[in-house]
Amino acid sequence: MAFTGTGTVWMNGVLVNWPDAKIHVASHVIHYGSAVFEGARCYETRQGPACFRLDAHMRRLVDSARIYRMVPAYTQAQLQDAVIETIRANRMRACYIRPIVYRGYAALGVNPLPCPIDTAILLWEWGTYLGPDALERGVDVMVSSWSRMAPDTFPSLAKTSANYANAQLIKMEAILGGYAEGIALDSYGFVSEGSGQNIFVVRDGILYTPPMSASILPGITRDSVMTLARDLGYAIREEMIPREMLYIADELFFVGTAVEITPIRSVDKIVIGQGTRGPITTALQDAFFGIVRGDQPDRHGWLTAVYPRGGAAPTEGD
Ligand SMILES: Cc1ncc(COP(=O)(O)O)c(C=O)c1O
Repeated sequence: MAFTGTGTVWMNGVLVNWPDAKIHVASHVIHYGSAVFEGARCYETRQGPACFRLDAHMRRLVDSARIYRMVPAYTQAQLQDAVIETIRANRMRACYIRPIVYRGYAALGVNPLPCPIDTAILLWEWGTYLGPDALERGVDVMVSSWSRMAPDTFPSLAKTSANYANAQLIKMEAILGGYAEGIALDSYGFVSEGSGQNIFVVRDGILYTPPMSASILPGITRDSVMTLARDLGYAIREEMIPREMLYIADELFFVGTAVEITPIRSVDKIVIGQGTRGPITTALQDAFFGIVRGDQPDRHGWLTAVYPRGGAAPTEGD
């Protein structure tokens, strides 16, 4: 995805033009991965643009910062307001939202504590993450030769930039091997997650997903899908999943802000189920997109309107 290089970026409370949103090369984050970040989405709903579970994303950002002893200059509520302000300023109707809290410019020892904690919010347009057909036709994936980090090494509950060094290894191996994604096992050999998405296995009508202890990022889409699956009457089990369970699944799918709910059609060239999007995956996609597109009531209170009732929304050509 190439950036257009236009619009504004929120940096420490100020909206700056995209080309000017720069930091010094001696900033701590560049050398040591000392940042925590989020990825959320604003959807174009029938009622106008709305952010999906913005509060949950910002809570996770604040949690990630706490784990890394970072104290952002803004509260969760202020950050949520800043996202809305930035979407309005950029007149976006649907976008990907990337808030990031990072260690800035002061000193370059490993010790991050002398460095300032800076915050930025970027927006850009981002369509279907794994290709235009992925949501319908599914994707071909491999089990990665790289494992997720072991417990007590890198905390998986923190969405820190440092964790994405591991994710990049998984992703590059998959792409160069001709696959759309890689599924990583945890350090004990159980299924963990994709490079940037959680995973669900369906077998005999039951949904299985790895627990928090399997080195996953506890995804907000994962949580939403579990809620929607319960609404639809499916049983869900959070439990350790052996690798071979992937191959004998009736259905498999990824979930995440970027991939939304993407079916997996094969793993290691073994076809999953009928090799097409399965009925439970379809039902969950319908339930999810029904809410985020505003076709169904927002019964779980997941949407934050960018222009609450009475507010002015830009129209095309405005
Ligand atoms: C490693 C990893 N796992 C899972 C997810 C899915 O999380 P969410 O649904 O909150 O986007 C992401 C995306 O942020 C991720 O990067």
